Amino acid sequence: MSAMSKDPRIKLGVLFGGRSGEHEVSLASAASVIAALDPGAYEIYAVGLTPSGRIARPDELRRMLPGELWDRVRPLAVLGSAASLLSVRSDAAGETEDAGAPEPDIWFPLLHGPYGEDGTLQGLLEMAGLPYIGCGVLASAVAMDKDIAKRLLAQAGLPVTPSLTVTAHELDTDLEAVRHTAERAWGYPMFSKPANLGSSVGVHRIGARDEFAAAVRDSARYDRKILIEKGIDGRELECAILGTAASVVGEVVSAGEFYDYESKYVSTESRLEIPASIDPATSDTIRALALRAFAALDGSGLARVDFFLERDSGTIWINEINTMPGFTPISMYTKLWAATGVPFGDLVAELIRLGLERFGEKNGRRISPRQVCAGYDPA
Ligand SMILES: Nc1ncnc2c1ncn2[C@@H]1O[C@H](COP(=O)(O)OP(=O)(O)O)[C@@H](O)[C@H]1O
Ligand SMILES: [Mg+2]
Repeated sequence: MSAMSKDPRIKLGVLFGGRSGEHEVSLASAASVIAALDPGAYEIYAVGLTPSGRIARPDELRRMLPGELWDRVRPLAVLGSAASLLSVRSDAAGETEDAGAPEPDIWFPLLHGPYGEDGTLQGLLEMAGLPYIGCGVLASAVAMDKDIAKRLLAQAGLPVTPSLTVTAHELDTDLEAVRHTAERAWGYPMFSKPANLGSSVGVHRIGARDEFAAAVRDSARYDRKILIEKGIDGRELECAILGTAASVVGEVVSAGEFYDYESKYVSTESRLEIPASIDPATSDTIRALALRAFAALDGSGLARVDFFLERDSGTIWINEINTMPGFTPISMYTKLWAATGVPFGDLVAELIRLGLERFGEKNGRRISPRQVCAGYDPA
């Protein structure tokens, strides 16, 4: 036993950065978590992923974090060490080259969008036998794919925005037919969007027929599969999930015609209203739907479920589920919990507890008649 194991602090590994368009958001999320946690209670390890997807060297890692946080983290250049599938054993006795390297108790994959929030990183952590915060491989991957997510939600009887999924190939070969189908189904305005992305990249409002072709073709630049949706004239309401609890409901009041990239990240005119001024019955309905949606995708830990409240009819539609929403103190997710009575530090502590609980539950189960998963000591 090394002296370090006597340190009563929780060893939290923060994983951030990455290849997606939300790299910068991830840096902000990680800096927020590091800054907010009590150094007396947490020892923080940091692994940065560069925009090309490589583990950052210590000098690169420093550039990814504000200077005042450098002495709060211990940089790591590996994910997992002893007993990990992803490390190389140096001898048959099972000693590893980095056997003395510290290993976090749990990882926080604070990455948003593809190659982070979409189950790929979660799969790497699973393979390495490492506990982590948030949704597992399946829920992460399904939620990232707006097409598959909507099929599961619809199958669970949940109200999803009406849409049509088409492949880039179908657009190439028969754009007119696709347009006719969408026009017959709901007409204008419509929205087109890539199935797997975020940050409103490639999302277009289609106000009339002459905008259709350019919009769907642009969406198809980002994915081989796109969604064409009925345009909802609605308020945008969001609800945060933590374990089995749903937060108060918040509203995004967008600066632009819709919540596009500019309104999300550039404009200072967009604002969050927490709690949203909606009647208690609508709020209760949204919270219940958020929990059902999370369960339908087999979510765990956290997610933010986004809705439209249609202005004319009062109909509530589920727009999408984000399994690793922005995690800064000014992000909707953390603000919703703060307004529900769970401040930032308690939120992280609860996510850690949930992550460890899930790891224990999963790894306590047998994966073959003889063997339980590696990395779990049932004693
Ligand atoms: N069917 C729709 N009707 C009305 N507005 C929509 C629709 N789909 C998307 N939007 C607008 O576009 C924004 C981004 O779309 P969204 O599906 O949430 O993608 P992202 O994953 O990029 O956030 C939404 O926040 C909303 O403002
Ligand atoms: Mg969205």
